[in-house]
Amino acid sequence: MSGAFHAQMLLHGLAGLRLGHPVHLYLQIGSTNDEAKYLADAGAREGLLVVAEEQTAGRGRAGRGWITLPGMALAFSLVLRPNLAAQQAPHLTMLAGVAACEAIEQCCGLRAALKWPNDVLVSGKKVGGILVESAFDGDRLDYAVVGVGINVSFAPSTAEVDFPATSLQAEAQGEVDRLGLLRAILERLDAHYPRLDSAGDGTLYGDWRARLALMGEPIVAHAPDGEHRGTAETVDSDGALVLRLDSGEAMRLLAGDVRLRPTAEGSVRSTPT
Ligand code: BTN
Repeated sequence: MSGAFHAQMLLHGLAGLRLGHPVHLYLQIGSTNDEAKYLADAGAREGLLVVAEEQTAGRGRAGRGWITLPGMALAFSLVLRPNLAAQQAPHLTMLAGVAACEAIEQCCGLRAALKWPNDVLVSGKKVGGILVESAFDGDRLDYAVVGVGINVSFAPSTAEVDFPATSLQAEAQGEVDRLGLLRAILERLDAHYPRLDSAGDGTLYGDWRARLALMGEPIVAHAPDGEHRGTAETVDSDGALVLRLDSGEAMRLLAGDVRLRPTAEGSVRSTPT
């Protein structure tokens, strides 16, 4: 295990970045997203970062929990205030997904992919997750809290999660520098930030779509209104998944409470299509 984060180390390690200042470090906290939202509601500026060694009430999407054990993960939340229309908010999940994949590739030499809408995969297993929570002012975004959790040296067992999980160290078979990874994610977030309000090919949406696993494969989508089986056909620039149902009809699914699984016949490829 690499050493625990401390304040000086973070200040030094994140020096020169636009995003990542000021930084609030907690040895233990409930959820970094909750803290960042509290600070954003109180007027925190873009770039404020909340980092925790351990979360006791870490949150995932759709009301699920997220395990963060001391020193074994990267868990942080970043306040962003981009000038975006409310309907463009899903682009923030694309931004964070692409940034996390690029940073993992750069720091660990592993190929990273995404599972719609917000899971980070290595070798077809979940190595991280993204939870973007936004606040709106009319039809504009006020702020977004971009929460990122990465399994560095610990991954929950199959009994604890509903999708196979892994850790970066297990996949890389070597030590992973958590601070280097944090810095790389923040750098990649900033590099792609100006592309947040664009759509179409050659854009952030295109980069995100190119990294999505399971496209063209048989899947089952667990939604609040039940299970939907079909082929994951594509995603649109609003971040919705287009599912071709077994009946032939197309169904558009918004991230919300939907969870995606390969069917028994399908499997998650490590290299996305
Ligand atoms: C998911 O896979 O459903 C998303 C997981 C997001 C976890 C991160 S860890 C840092 C931040 N704080 C939280 O409580 N959640 C996010």
